[in-house]
Amino acid sequence: MKSNSKQDLSLDLKTLPCHVGIIMDGNGRWAKKRLMNRVKGHEKGTQTVRSIVTACTELGIGILTLYAFSTENWARPKHEVKALMMLLKKFIVSEREEFLTNNIRVNVIGQKHKLPLDVQAEVNTTMDMTRSNDRLLLNLALSYGSREEITNAVTQIVEKIASNELDVRDITQDLISDHLYTRSMPDPDLIIRTSGEYRLSNFLLWQAAYSEIYISNTLWPDFSKEEFIEILKNFQARDRRFGKVKCNTSNGG
Ligand code: FPP
Repeated sequence: MKSNSKQDLSLDLKTLPCHVGIIMDGNGRWAKKRLMNRVKGHEKGTQTVRSIVTACTELGIGILTLYAFSTENWARPKHEVKALMMLLKKFIVSEREEFLTNNIRVNVIGQKHKLPLDVQAEVNTTMDMTRSNDRLLLNLALSYGSREEITNAVTQIVEKIASNELDVRDITQDLISDHLYTRSMPDPDLIIRTSGEYRLSNFLLWQAAYSEIYISNTLWPDFSKEEFIEILKNFQARDRRFGKVKCNTSNGG
């Protein structure tokens, strides 16, 4: 057996990514392959969400950000948007006990105010109920778009400058980060996209500056805990230099 074969690598629980983002893509294609309605793909995709959330809790990953509904997804056919909103609401309500038992905090990034009122109400209840949990932060990106997030941050900063709360000289990268939906969270170390597309699709564009990207060919409904673990091992084998060169401090270099 080759020394670098998959079986030889074990997951190092001490060097897991702190923050993993996932672009859950391929629900529609999964359904189409089975001559099913696209909504069936989203339903099966919700089961995958459950298993990956559980995997993150078991492994000890601190933050999981799931791209569940983008600002662009509002343009999908009305019945698909309605079905997705219903699935989200069902998930957020049915998993509450699980979130509390497993010490999971739920948060939403995105235009929460644009969600249907009944979805907003359940999201707010789940966020409030789980506020003090600290094992896993589950960030659901809902009506989320990175360009909207950055535009919103710029607007807030300009308003603060206009009211003398801030000075132009206060603008730094940290200040901008502090006005994003992800304020006070570390940037994602790893972003996974399923279904073989090589795009970020308006997901965490600012925060992804130094994220490792992994593209899986698996359609989201077929994505498994086993593949997730293989991707984490792949992440651990990467050399992250953040634009710098590695220096060997032991010989003074
Ligand atoms: C992309 O697949 C997926 C979405 C737009 C929605 C993701 C939603 C879920 C996984 C289920 C609900 C989420 C939660 C958190 C409970 P696509 O429809 O664009 O697939 P395609 O590219 O194959 O058409």
